[in-house]
Amino acid sequence: MTSHWLLFGLLVAGCSLAFASDPSPLQDFCVADQNSTVFVNGLVCKEARLVQPDDFFYSGLQLMGNTSNAVESAVTPVTVEELPGLNTLGISMARIDFAPQGINPPHTHPRATEILTVMEGRILVGFVTSNPQNRLITKELQKGDVFVFPEGLIHFQKNVGNGYAVAIAALSSQNPGVITIANAIFGSNPDIAGDILAKAFQVDINVVYQIQSKF
Ligand SMILES: *[C@@H]1O[C@H](CO)[C@@H](O)[C@H](O)[C@H]1NC(C)=O
Ligand SMILES: *[C@@H]1O[C@H](CO)[C@@H](O)[C@H](O)[C@H]1NC(C)=O
Repeated sequence: MTSHWLLFGLLVAGCSLAFASDPSPLQDFCVADQNSTVFVNGLVCKEARLVQPDDFFYSGLQLMGNTSNAVESAVTPVTVEELPGLNTLGISMARIDFAPQGINPPHTHPRATEILTVMEGRILVGFVTSNPQNRLITKELQKGDVFVFPEGLIHFQKNVGNGYAVAIAALSSQNPGVITIANAIFGSNPDIAGDILAKAFQVDINVVYQIQSKF
Protein backbone atom coordinates (compact mmCIF):
# COMPACT_ATOMS: atom_id res chain seq x y z
CA MET A 1 0.00 0.00 0.00
CA THR A 2 2.74 2.45 1.05
CA SER A 3 4.77 1.70 -2.08
CA HIS A 4 1.69 2.37 -4.28
CA TRP A 5 1.29 5.81 -2.71
CA LEU A 6 5.01 6.46 -3.15
CA LEU A 7 4.76 5.51 -6.84
CA PHE A 8 1.67 7.70 -7.23
CA GLY A 9 3.51 10.60 -5.57
CA LEU A 10 6.48 10.21 -7.87
CA LEU A 11 4.20 10.14 -10.94
CA VAL A 12 2.41 13.30 -9.80
CA ALA A 13 5.75 15.03 -9.12
CA GLY A 14 7.04 13.89 -12.52
CA CYS A 15 3.97 15.24 -14.34
CA SER A 16 4.11 18.62 -12.64
CA LEU A 17 7.80 18.91 -13.58
CA ALA A 18 6.98 18.05 -17.17
CA PHE A 19 4.06 20.46 -17.53
CA ALA A 20 4.77 23.39 -15.22
CA SER A 21 7.64 24.98 -17.18
CA ASP A 22 9.10 25.45 -20.64
CA PRO A 23 9.76 22.13 -22.43
CA SER A 24 13.34 20.80 -22.44
CA PRO A 25 15.44 21.35 -25.59
CA LEU A 26 15.84 18.42 -27.99
CA GLN A 27 19.11 19.75 -29.47
CA ASP A 28 22.14 21.84 -28.34
CA PHE A 29 20.39 25.04 -29.33
CA CYS A 30 17.49 26.32 -31.38
CA VAL A 31 18.19 29.99 -32.07
CA ALA A 32 14.87 31.68 -32.86
CA ASP A 33 14.34 32.47 -36.54
CA GLN A 34 12.58 35.79 -36.07
CA ASN A 35 11.63 35.83 -39.77
CA SER A 36 9.82 32.50 -39.87
CA THR A 37 6.13 32.62 -40.72
CA VAL A 38 5.64 29.11 -39.30
CA PHE A 39 3.95 29.10 -35.89
CA VAL A 40 4.84 26.45 -33.31
CA ASN A 41 4.85 26.39 -29.50
CA GLY A 42 7.93 28.62 -29.17
CA LEU A 43 9.86 29.79 -32.21
CA VAL A 44 11.23 27.95 -35.26
CA CYS A 45 14.98 27.15 -35.18
CA LYS A 46 17.32 29.13 -37.37
CA GLU A 47 19.42 26.83 -39.58
CA ALA A 48 22.35 25.69 -37.35
CA ARG A 49 25.08 26.58 -39.90
CA LEU A 50 23.81 30.20 -40.02
CA VAL A 51 24.00 30.64 -36.22
CA GLN A 52 26.48 33.30 -35.04
CA PRO A 53 27.93 34.19 -31.59
CA ASP A 54 25.74 37.30 -31.57
CA ASP A 55 22.63 35.06 -31.56
CA PHE A 56 23.56 34.17 -27.94
CA PHE A 57 24.41 37.74 -26.97
CA TYR A 58 22.68 40.86 -25.68
CA SER A 59 24.26 44.16 -24.71
CA GLY A 60 22.65 46.97 -22.77
CA LEU A 61 21.83 45.94 -19.19
CA GLN A 62 24.40 48.47 -17.93
CA LEU A 63 21.93 51.16 -19.06
CA MET A 64 19.37 52.60 -16.68
CA GLY A 65 15.76 52.38 -17.84
CA ASN A 66 13.64 55.53 -18.22
CA THR A 67 11.57 55.82 -15.02
CA SER A 68 9.69 59.00 -16.10
CA ASN A 69 6.25 57.36 -16.07
CA ALA A 70 3.23 57.02 -13.77
CA VAL A 71 4.73 54.19 -11.66
CA GLU A 72 8.30 55.57 -11.71
CA SER A 73 9.99 52.31 -12.65
CA ALA A 74 11.27 50.70 -15.84
CA VAL A 75 11.74 47.07 -16.84
CA THR A 76 14.36 46.22 -19.48
CA PRO A 77 13.56 42.64 -20.55
CA VAL A 78 16.00 40.15 -22.05
CA THR A 79 13.67 37.42 -23.31
CA VAL A 80 13.74 35.36 -26.53
CA GLU A 81 12.53 38.47 -28.34
CA GLU A 82 15.73 40.39 -27.49
CA LEU A 83 18.07 37.36 -27.38
CA PRO A 84 17.04 34.74 -29.97
CA GLY A 85 19.49 32.13 -28.55
CA LEU A 86 17.16 31.79 -25.53
CA ASN A 87 14.64 29.88 -27.66
CA THR A 88 13.89 26.45 -26.01
CA LEU A 89 16.26 27.15 -23.06
CA GLY A 90 13.56 27.96 -20.48
CA ILE A 91 15.24 31.04 -19.01
CA SER A 92 15.33 34.83 -19.37
CA MET A 93 16.12 37.94 -17.36
CA ALA A 94 15.39 41.62 -16.84
CA ARG A 95 16.82 44.77 -15.30
CA ILE A 96 14.40 46.79 -13.17
CA ASP A 97 15.07 50.46 -12.32
CA PHE A 98 13.17 52.40 -9.67
CA ALA A 99 13.12 56.14 -9.03
CA PRO A 100 12.77 57.03 -5.31
CA GLN A 101 9.28 55.76 -4.23
CA GLY A 102 8.87 54.08 -7.64
CA ILE A 103 6.91 50.82 -7.82
CA ASN A 104 6.75 47.85 -10.14
CA PRO A 105 2.94 47.49 -9.85
CA PRO A 106 1.20 44.21 -8.93
CA HIS A 107 1.62 41.79 -11.82
CA THR A 108 2.06 38.11 -12.59
CA HIS A 109 4.17 36.08 -15.02
CA PRO A 110 1.86 33.35 -16.34
CA ARG A 111 4.78 31.13 -17.40
CA ALA A 112 7.63 31.75 -14.94
CA THR A 113 9.01 31.77 -11.43
CA GLU A 114 11.11 34.90 -10.82
CA ILE A 115 14.22 35.23 -8.66
CA LEU A 116 15.25 38.82 -7.94
CA THR A 117 18.62 40.22 -6.79
CA VAL A 118 18.95 43.78 -5.49
CA MET A 119 21.99 45.46 -7.09
CA GLU A 120 21.47 48.91 -5.56
CA GLY A 121 19.13 50.50 -3.01
CA ARG A 122 16.38 49.18 -0.72
CA ILE A 123 13.35 47.43 -2.21
CA LEU A 124 10.17 46.25 -0.48
CA VAL A 125 8.84 43.16 -2.27
CA GLY A 126 5.76 41.01 -1.84
CA PHE A 127 3.55 38.33 -3.34
CA VAL A 128 0.06 37.07 -2.48
CA THR A 129 -0.86 33.40 -2.26
CA SER A 130 -3.88 32.00 -4.11
CA ASN A 131 -7.48 31.77 -2.78
CA PRO A 132 -8.82 31.39 -0.20
CA GLN A 133 -5.88 32.44 2.08
CA ASN A 134 -4.60 35.31 -0.10
CA ARG A 135 -1.71 35.63 2.32
CA LEU A 136 0.71 38.52 1.70
CA ILE A 137 4.36 37.42 1.94
CA THR A 138 6.49 40.56 2.07
CA LYS A 139 10.04 41.61 2.97
CA GLU A 140 12.37 44.59 2.70
CA LEU A 141 15.54 43.83 0.73
CA GLN A 142 18.99 45.43 0.71
CA LYS A 143 21.77 45.36 -1.86
CA GLY A 144 22.83 41.75 -2.46
CA ASP A 145 19.58 40.24 -1.14
CA VAL A 146 17.71 37.65 -3.22
CA PHE A 147 13.96 36.94 -3.19
CA VAL A 148 11.84 34.46 -5.17
CA PHE A 149 8.31 35.00 -6.53
CA PRO A 150 6.60 31.63 -7.17
CA GLU A 151 5.25 30.99 -10.67
CA GLY A 152 1.97 32.67 -11.50
CA LEU A 153 1.50 34.52 -8.19
CA ILE A 154 0.73 38.26 -8.10
CA HIS A 155 3.77 40.23 -6.88
CA PHE A 156 5.14 43.78 -6.66
CA GLN A 157 8.22 45.80 -5.71
CA LYS A 158 8.70 49.29 -4.29
CA ASN A 159 11.80 51.43 -3.86
CA VAL A 160 11.81 52.36 -0.17
CA GLY A 161 15.30 53.90 -0.14
CA ASN A 162 16.29 57.51 -0.67
CA GLY A 163 18.05 57.14 -4.04
CA TYR A 164 17.51 55.11 -7.20
CA ALA A 165 17.25 51.33 -6.87
CA VAL A 166 18.24 48.62 -9.35
CA ALA A 167 17.39 44.92 -9.40
CA ILE A 168 18.16 42.04 -11.75
CA ALA A 169 15.49 39.37 -12.20
CA ALA A 170 15.95 35.88 -13.63
CA LEU A 171 12.85 34.06 -14.90
CA SER A 172 12.20 30.39 -15.63
CA SER A 173 10.82 30.84 -19.16
CA GLN A 174 12.18 32.15 -22.46
CA ASN A 175 8.91 34.11 -22.64
CA PRO A 176 7.56 34.67 -19.09
CA GLY A 177 4.76 37.03 -20.15
CA VAL A 178 3.51 39.84 -17.91
CA ILE A 179 -0.06 40.53 -16.77
CA THR A 180 -0.14 43.87 -14.95
CA ILE A 181 -3.27 43.59 -12.82
CA ALA A 182 -4.47 47.20 -13.10
CA ASN A 183 -3.91 47.33 -16.87
CA ALA A 184 -5.53 43.95 -17.51
CA ILE A 185 -8.60 44.69 -15.38
CA PHE A 186 -9.14 48.42 -16.00
CA GLY A 187 -7.37 48.87 -19.34
CA SER A 188 -8.57 45.86 -21.32
CA ASN A 189 -9.42 46.34 -24.98
CA PRO A 190 -12.39 46.64 -25.25
CA ASP A 191 -13.30 47.57 -21.65
CA ILE A 192 -14.78 45.00 -19.26
CA ALA A 193 -18.33 46.29 -18.58
CA GLY A 194 -18.41 48.74 -15.65
CA ASP A 195 -21.19 46.89 -13.79
CA ILE A 196 -19.07 43.72 -13.72
CA LEU A 197 -16.10 45.54 -12.20
CA ALA A 198 -18.33 47.51 -9.81
CA LYS A 199 -19.69 44.23 -8.42
CA ALA A 200 -16.30 42.49 -8.45
CA PHE A 201 -14.60 45.32 -6.55
CA GLN A 202 -17.71 46.20 -4.48
CA VAL A 203 -17.56 49.91 -5.43
CA ASP A 204 -19.80 52.43 -7.16
CA ILE A 205 -19.70 52.21 -10.96
CA ASN A 206 -18.35 55.79 -11.14
CA VAL A 207 -15.26 54.66 -9.25
CA VAL A 208 -14.79 52.02 -11.97
CA TYR A 209 -15.15 54.62 -14.75
CA GLN A 210 -12.66 56.87 -12.96
CA ILE A 211 -10.05 54.09 -12.77
CA GLN A 212 -10.75 52.96 -16.35
CA SER A 213 -10.07 56.51 -17.57
CA LYS A 214 -6.46 56.21 -16.31
CA PHE A 215 -5.64 53.08 -18.32
C1 LIG B 1 15.59 38.21 -41.14
O1 LIG B 1 15.53 38.98 -42.30
C2 LIG B 1 16.38 40.12 -42.28
C3 LIG B 1 16.07 40.92 -43.55
O2 LIG B 1 15.97 40.08 -44.66
C4 LIG B 1 17.84 39.66 -42.20
O3 LIG B 1 18.69 40.77 -42.16
C5 LIG B 1 18.00 38.83 -40.93
O4 LIG B 1 19.32 38.31 -40.87
C6 LIG B 1 17.01 37.69 -40.91
N1 LIG B 1 17.07 37.03 -39.61
C7 LIG B 1 17.18 35.74 -39.48
C8 LIG B 1 17.23 35.24 -38.06
O5 LIG B 1 17.25 34.97 -40.41
C1 LIG C 1 11.83 59.37 -20.70
O1 LIG C 1 10.46 59.22 -20.96
C2 LIG C 1 9.75 60.46 -20.98
C3 LIG C 1 8.25 60.13 -21.07
O2 LIG C 1 8.01 59.23 -22.12
C4 LIG C 1 10.26 61.31 -22.12
O3 LIG C 1 9.58 62.52 -22.15
C5 LIG C 1 11.76 61.55 -21.93
O4 LIG C 1 12.27 62.23 -23.06
C6 LIG C 1 12.49 60.22 -21.78
N1 LIG C 1 13.86 60.50 -21.40
C7 LIG C 1 14.90 59.95 -22.04
C8 LIG C 1 16.24 60.31 -21.52
O5 LIG C 1 14.76 59.20 -23.00
